[in-house]
Amino acid sequence: MPLVLNASDPAAIEQAALRLAAGGLVGMPTETVYGLAADAGNASAVGGIFAAKGRPSDHPLIVHIPPVADGDWRAAVAPLARDVPDFAVALMNAFWPGPLTLILPRRPGVAAVAAGGQDSVGVRCPAHPVAQALLAAARAHGVLGVAAPSANRFGRVSPTTAAHVAEEFAALGDEQLLILDGGACPVGIESTIVDGSRGFPVLLRPGMVTPAQIEAACGLPLRERDETAPRASGTLASHYAPRARVRLMDAGPLQTALDLLGAQARHIAVYARSPLRAAGGVHLRRMPDDAAQTAQELFAVLRELDATGVKLIWVETPPAGADWDGVRDRLQRAAA
Ligand code: TXA
Ligand code: MG
Repeated sequence: MPLVLNASDPAAIEQAALRLAAGGLVGMPTETVYGLAADAGNASAVGGIFAAKGRPSDHPLIVHIPPVADGDWRAAVAPLARDVPDFAVALMNAFWPGPLTLILPRRPGVAAVAAGGQDSVGVRCPAHPVAQALLAAARAHGVLGVAAPSANRFGRVSPTTAAHVAEEFAALGDEQLLILDGGACPVGIESTIVDGSRGFPVLLRPGMVTPAQIEAACGLPLRERDETAPRASGTLASHYAPRARVRLMDAGPLQTALDLLGAQARHIAVYARSPLRAAGGVHLRRMPDDAAQTAQELFAVLRELDATGVKLIWVETPPAGADWDGVRDRLQRAAA
């Protein structure tokens, strides 16, 4: 089993930083989801991430950097990025530290394995105090940036607690994986990703930072992604999938189906905002009315419902509106 340490102990942070510096893997809490972290400058350490996740090695990883005291983000990303457009700096100023990843033209020879062969690099400064402490401590040991995809096996639901990470990588021993337990992630879904490598901002993955916020912060229209966008595994149609089949339905048809099935609906779990009636024994779980609250619990709820052994998870389609974009995107992929 992986080693799980309480992140409120400063000695645990230092132990995790030493693991990173030695080329090991660390389960790192961030404000979005837990990441599976390794030294972005160490090719074999980064190879360990791909191997543990079962992720194809041409799928690029995000490099995480610690916050800067002077707020000079352009200088902070300069060791990784060869060119940082003004609109990207405006976005860093507005949203860093926080749940926004920027794809920037990569400095040749830097973080090549982490970038999965792309000539760009994804960079993010997380807002979580444990992630920040770990990144700063690792830097003191010579680690400039930490590559970290979500700490789940390829194609599975992202982890939002240390227990989820331990479950995903139960096959790894305590010397192969150290997990810092920083509690449940407050955002709950992965960062918004904006491509800043093409001269204009392009949305690659929706998240809690919305298009309207992005456009307001940089004063440019945010384009939708198209076929020319770089590969992003979080953008595969089928991703974030629990074992059970997920289906999105409106409240009306959901109620009709539950009425028809009666007690036979016991092999189905339901996650819905609307108050629904179901026969005894049916797993009914209420979805919050608030998008941020739903995002926070979404992956944990999918894991919980999956663990009941049901074959189907029926989810009420989230409402229209940009604040639900991130949740809707993850649910559509879970259902694909
Ligand atoms: O919130 C998050 O972003 C979390 C936490 C741990 O920071 N990380 C995360 O990583 O979600 P991951 O690997 O599960 O998703 C990162 C996404 C992938 O879809 C990847 O393809 C994309 O970012 N990405 C990273 N670098 C890229 C690049 N150079 N070009 C295009 N896409 C890139
Ligand atoms: Mg992921």
